[in-house]
Amino acid sequence: MQSEVAPDFHRWISEELFDHVPLAICVVDQQFRIVEANDRFAELYGEWRGRFCYDVYKGRNEKCARCGAAKTFRDGKTRQREEQGVDRQGNATDYVVNIVPVVRDNGEVPYVIEMSRNIAELKTLQRQKLEAERLAAVGQTVAGLAHGIKNLIMGLEGGMYVVNSGLRSGNEERLLQGWKMLEEDIGRISSFVKEFLEFAKGRQPRVQTIQPNDMARKVVASFRERAARAGVELRLDLQELGEASMDEEGLHACLTNLVLNAIDACVMSTNETHHVVLSTRERDGVLTFEVSDNGCGMDYDIKQRVFTNFFSTKASGKGTGLGLLTTRKIVQEHGGKVSFESAEGEGSVFRLEFPRDSLPRPQREETAA
Ligand SMILES: Nc1ncnc2c1ncn2[C@@H]1O[C@H](COP(=O)(O)OP(=O)(O)OP(=O)(O)O)[C@@H](O)[C@H]1O
Ligand SMILES: [Mg+2]
Repeated sequence: MQSEVAPDFHRWISEELFDHVPLAICVVDQQFRIVEANDRFAELYGEWRGRFCYDVYKGRNEKCARCGAAKTFRDGKTRQREEQGVDRQGNATDYVVNIVPVVRDNGEVPYVIEMSRNIAELKTLQRQKLEAERLAAVGQTVAGLAHGIKNLIMGLEGGMYVVNSGLRSGNEERLLQGWKMLEEDIGRISSFVKEFLEFAKGRQPRVQTIQPNDMARKVVASFRERAARAGVELRLDLQELGEASMDEEGLHACLTNLVLNAIDACVMSTNETHHVVLSTRERDGVLTFEVSDNGCGMDYDIKQRVFTNFFSTKASGKGTGLGLLTTRKIVQEHGGKVSFESAEGEGSVFRLEFPRDSLPRPQREETAA
């Protein structure tokens, strides 16, 4: 039975398969002239008889610079290449070609067989995927920008409040204090936007020698009025800290995020009185910042998700859910870590720990090195 089928099958392979495989196949001689091709090849590239492979595949009038067939003629090896060409309608095509030598007993390679598969669709999908990824990154970047500006605007509101109350009471000292807060925050918005643009191009933290307690004082000064209006007492509890090399604006963004979250948590809680405390300390070479509140706290489910992109329990337009994620990124860039404890209905503590050994070196030192 088998012996009857086998001859047919072999005839089909030798006479039909060549034209039925879903690959464009051609045979090229040592002068790069196409001497044989299958139907699929003719369909894709049109008339091939008497023409050179570089002309048929690419519409060129001379050999390609990196010719795979020439290499296979030389070394007798099979190779696979990704190429771009033009089809019979003149459209650009992307294809993968496998080049296989026909080797004579004496080792001579009179022909190479080229089998190509069109990958234009795959390429289009790849390009679409890249574009989608780029747009997703742009979206996250824009959300990050909006988030940072939103927090800074809240700082501006604090300054405005102090200016207004200074104007109302004719208290020049208070007026100046509020104006200074406004100036600082406007400067911060301006440098934030500039830095954000740099970030879009791949921003590096700007590390300088700073006094971390100064930053803690500034953040509390910016938000004290806002907290008070929400019925929250915002306090500082600072221990003596030495200078440290940190990204000042980065640290400002982290503390701002934590303080605002703590105030929001207080607003959402039913406790009678509310307080938020920003404390700093240094022990065994580790700088620690803590923001504690007696706000609403978090249940198990929320605790699992706080560091997730765009996770927020706040009303839409109030929270973007990027604050803690951004905070963690900045802290990690300083070789530090973020941790928290929280009990539902009782409050939370967020902690930033920076081992001095892991802090980045100030930029000026690096350029000098
Ligand atoms: N101190 C806190 N007490 C209770 N819940 C908190 C506290 N800090 C964060 N959370 C929870 O974690 C979520 C994520 O916080 P995150 O700062 O990342 O985003 P967000 O504050 O909602 O929005 P934004 O992007 O404006 O900061 C909050 O929505 C809130 O549910
Ligand atoms: Mg937040």
